[in-house]
Amino acid sequence: MPSDSSPSSQPAWLENPALPFDKTFQIPSPDSALAGIVKPVQIGGVQLPNNLVLAPMAGVTDGSFRLLCSRMGVGFTVSELASARAITYRSRQTIDMVRFQAQARPYAVQLFGSDPEIMARAAAFIEELQICDIIDINMGCPVAKVVKTGAGSALMKTPALAAEIIRQVKKAVKVPVTAKFRIGWTENTINVKEFTRTVIDAGAQAITVHARTRQAGYTGTAQWQHLEGIKELCGTVPFFANGDISCPEHLIELSQRTGCDGFMIGRGCVGKPWLFSQLLGNNDFAAPALRFRIFRHHLIDMLMEHGPSAVPLFRVHLFGYLKNHPHSAKLRHSLCNERNPDTVIAAGRDFFSAALQTDAAD
Ligand SMILES: Cc1cc2nc3c(=O)[nH]c(=O)nc-3n(C[C@H](O)[C@H](O)[C@H](O)COP(=O)(O)O)c2cc1C
Repeated sequence: MPSDSSPSSQPAWLENPALPFDKTFQIPSPDSALAGIVKPVQIGGVQLPNNLVLAPMAGVTDGSFRLLCSRMGVGFTVSELASARAITYRSRQTIDMVRFQAQARPYAVQLFGSDPEIMARAAAFIEELQICDIIDINMGCPVAKVVKTGAGSALMKTPALAAEIIRQVKKAVKVPVTAKFRIGWTENTINVKEFTRTVIDAGAQAITVHARTRQAGYTGTAQWQHLEGIKELCGTVPFFANGDISCPEHLIELSQRTGCDGFMIGRGCVGKPWLFSQLLGNNDFAAPALRFRIFRHHLIDMLMEHGPSAVPLFRVHLFGYLKNHPHSAKLRHSLCNERNPDTVIAAGRDFFSAALQTDAAD
């Protein structure tokens, strides 16, 4: 039964969260299969310790999760998408969402919008706050509320506007400006190559391509074949591949097929933040007792970040952590309305304890 007492090899930050980030395992060892694939990369003047990126995910990648993934060795994190317009109105809620201070740097704030001037003003304000190293522009969000304003993935239908946004944001800030987009709007209008050329010509300093169309949303399998040939259009500008990456073999395959400079990972690390340390060749986080401590630490950090609303906000992570458990459906049902953090921690303790006995943890 995992207890709260320390397993001998746990990282120091679990005991003392005030300790600085552990920089000891930011690239795989030379004998690892991922040596030379997971490596440092530079965006403009910003050096990333490695090319693993935590994907921006609204409702998931809050400050606590970005911090946790940084502890696990991820090289770069991005905020949840933030409305440029709301930032120009100085929306307290939006600014709070992106300004969490404890995460490791480098860190990007991601903006969405369709008005180049508002995007530029929002970016300039964010830069003034000195909370991030990079401004990323969302050109991939599929959500109706966003695309109906011409923002997110709708920009893939208006490349001239997308280019103008990049140019104006670049004029407004000194930090590098990057763009994240999809392979196209629909299966019949895949324009990822033309769009890549457009944003690179407009001055994007890194691009990330999610290998799905807007039409696909988050369904089906990522179409990695459409990532082939993109790097050749980027020259020296880093290209990050994204979509369904969840294990070392995926990094190897994507690297071979696309020559990408880095990898952005989203759902693969929800409920599994130790994925990043595994990709760096560090298996210190395999013990269920240690995983339980990480789970508990994660919830406690969220309580500090969000107050009482942390428990409902933690649910998406909770269900991720509980995945693969033989009784996960029952557990999900019993915890879906839970608001008491102690109950959630107790359920986690039981869950990881069962994993310890059945070796079900992966
Ligand atoms: C719940 C959720 C929220 C997301 N929010 C954002 C966002 O705010 N900005 C963004 O660029 N992409 C967002 N995405 C897309 C991810 O960044 C990523 O491109 C996508 O999930 C594919 O990567 P994956 O297969 O590794 O998850 C979101 C995805 C999910 C599942």
